[in-house]
Amino acid sequence: LNYQSARFLISAPTLASCPTDSGAEVAFAGRSNAGKSSAINTLTRQKALARTSKTPGRTQLINFFSLGDDTSRRLVDLPGYGFAKVPEKVKLEWQRHLSDYLQRRASLRGLVVVMDVRHPLSEFDQTLLGWADDKHMPVHILLTKADKLKQGAAKAALQQVKNRLREWEDLVSLQLFSSLKGQGVEEAHQRLDGWLLD
Ligand code: GTP
Ligand code: MG
Repeated sequence: LNYQSARFLISAPTLASCPTDSGAEVAFAGRSNAGKSSAINTLTRQKALARTSKTPGRTQLINFFSLGDDTSRRLVDLPGYGFAKVPEKVKLEWQRHLSDYLQRRASLRGLVVVMDVRHPLSEFDQTLLGWADDKHMPVHILLTKADKLKQGAAKAALQQVKNRLREWEDLVSLQLFSSLKGQGVEEAHQRLDGWLLD
């Protein structure tokens, strides 16, 4: 697939305002500031397709990108979770939105869960993996910001997460990634191709 041809489609504040639920899409989820928007930019080789920020909680809408002009294949940038400054009520509301999206979105083919390689598998990351498992939804984990660790330490972190996810290995794949260095792009494209071309 031509990821470079990605373009912004629409921002949706709620599930009801998402584009028509047909075709195929892949959603990027993960903790606030983990690097979801950066990963989308790196995978599409565009500098500012998805808005990134040093301030956690930057992405608050569900942002849809289409691959080329054909809107039937999409990448979805989901708002991050776990941002401490968000009021509890808003947090719970967003968790419900996320859960609804995962449960009901028929065109969702797979979930990319982006985790900072230095802080993988937060409590809510695990909740999310549980939801995906309930739906038999395949998951690809990007252990991103791998450039922040020495190669040996990054490999060890990958192996540790792999070990902890052994019970889910049928549905879950994972890899090291760095948006800064462009590391892991090919591998991620292959996994996304498998979902979007199906
Ligand atoms: P929210 O939209 O707030 O949920 O955050 P996000 O997950 O979309 O994170 P975003 O892509 O905006 O990145 C957050 C910060 O991490 C930014 O300052 C990025 O420059 C930085 N960052 C993202 N990916 C990498 C990476 O691979 N390496 C390094 N060193 N920094 C990264
Ligand atoms: Mg973002």
